[in-house]
Amino acid sequence: MLMYSCFYNETDDETMTTTSSPLTASASFQALQMHHAKLCSQPLRALFAADPERFRKMTLDAAGLLLDFSKNRIDATALSLLLDLARECGVEARRDAMFAGEKINLTEQRAVLHTALRAPRGQALIVDGQDIDADVHAVLDRVKQFTDRVRAGSWLGFTGKPILDVVNIGIGGSDLGPQMACLALRSYAHPNLALHFVSNVDGHAIDAVLEKLDPATTLFIVASKTFVTAETMLNAHTARSWFLGHGTQTGDQQKDLARHFVAVSTNLEAIREFGIDPDNMFPFWDWVGGRYSVWSSIGLALALAIGFDYFSDFLAGAHQMDRHFQQAPLTDNMPVVLALIGFWNRQFEQCPTLSIAPYHQDLSRLVPYLQQLDMESNGKRVSRNGCALDAPTCPVIWGDCGTNAQHAYFQLLHQGSDVTPVDFIAALRATHDLPGHHDALLANCFAQSEAFMRGKNIAEVRADLQGQGLDADEVERLAPHKVFPGDRPSNTILMDQLTPLTLGALLALYEHKTFVQGVLWDINSFDQWGVELGKVLARNIQTELCGTARPDLHDSSTNGLIALAQAAKAAF
Ligand code: F6P
Repeated sequence: MLMYSCFYNETDDETMTTTSSPLTASASFQALQMHHAKLCSQPLRALFAADPERFRKMTLDAAGLLLDFSKNRIDATALSLLLDLARECGVEARRDAMFAGEKINLTEQRAVLHTALRAPRGQALIVDGQDIDADVHAVLDRVKQFTDRVRAGSWLGFTGKPILDVVNIGIGGSDLGPQMACLALRSYAHPNLALHFVSNVDGHAIDAVLEKLDPATTLFIVASKTFVTAETMLNAHTARSWFLGHGTQTGDQQKDLARHFVAVSTNLEAIREFGIDPDNMFPFWDWVGGRYSVWSSIGLALALAIGFDYFSDFLAGAHQMDRHFQQAPLTDNMPVVLALIGFWNRQFEQCPTLSIAPYHQDLSRLVPYLQQLDMESNGKRVSRNGCALDAPTCPVIWGDCGTNAQHAYFQLLHQGSDVTPVDFIAALRATHDLPGHHDALLANCFAQSEAFMRGKNIAEVRADLQGQGLDADEVERLAPHKVFPGDRPSNTILMDQLTPLTLGALLALYEHKTFVQGVLWDINSFDQWGVELGKVLARNIQTELCGTARPDLHDSSTNGLIALAQAAKAAF
């Protein structure tokens, strides 16, 4: 295993040493570098032509998913060296430490146990004297009881009517996961329960939701791990005021609130202070990171939408992927291979971004979810020991659903100056039965990855244009514009159908991929200090915006912007 002792102790970027990190100095990294120098001149087309078995050799199956990674510029040697690197970086030992509940989140001294949230009942795990299995399943039992009652219409609002609308108020991990999954599994959802999500502090967001709702039939879930997040707290107070200010209450505010407000958090005190009945609190624990929390009671909105049985399937799908990640040899290990391919494309093919293209409209919120998962986890530039890293880390994650994306930015992916790897995600079978649509969707998905891989060279373009009867000058004028360089890497992830099981497996696949890449870069993937500075500055500026004092504490740009906002406020 690579030994990561600190090779950089300064906090000032200008004094950063250029000493190689254990990663870039490692034998397998050096071998990879040499091998890449040879392989980089090999077109992907040639790799396919040389081996008709390439698809069979470069696909993996796990937990109901298939990963085709054959359309990347790698060969058996590159793969084997990447696997050596994974071993040298200690991926297996670090994985085992995570599952065992070791405090691998070093800056916060916390275990990282989102995997325990989806383990079946009875898988004993004691951490710090705490019976994790018992705690998790006790909360799941309460989630079941509560969601059964709401879904059955027997949890009644203050006028005695059943709940028809549920508003999840949360942000980041307390919003993106449940929102994405509710959309993804909408065909499993309760027909009479509408789910709404409010995250942004922008009042237009909550305003747009509340204006449609009847307080008598609305349930609010205030979802916040810390219960101090500014956006969530302001939205929760606005919802509370709206609720208390509308409709006829019974005269007992606390009683009314208790029927319409529940909380999901780790912070019991803050919940009490807010005025939510502690009996209406669904707890979770500090060993669940926000972006890994959809499996915890943060998934309450999802469990309300799809019911506890399907929610259990969602957990089971993730657990299947956990087992695979823990048990499959590295060579056949889907999250490990996906991570290594991503590492190769980032490090050696020098691709600064990764585009995700779900060919499934119900996965329309998957990209924002994966953005938080990957970029909040690995968007870092120092190692676990605080040493400067000398390798590029997390690529920018972006994307949108196919086929819409094809008619927007795929131009750049095909012919732009940067190479962007793409992860295509599709289901072989639709959950609707409308004729024609699914064949068209899959045809486009497969065509795009083929086009990225093959491209269209100048000879092919000329032949095409000549075949259309264009004269020689016109052919030469148009040809350069119509060349597709090809050699643009992609993965394709297929599932039979988008179900609670396969969605669970897909999310766990990306979680573990993120984890493995964090190990390769020696990053602590489980803290997020980079979000703090902006929060502090926003608090200061908010005080200035509320007052009239001329701001002069900032740079001229920030002072100027604050002054404009103050003036606009004063004018009304
Ligand atoms: O500010 C970032 C962050 O802490 C995320 O990591 C988290 O998912 C989000 O804010 C919401 O936090 P909370 O659930 O504590 O409100």
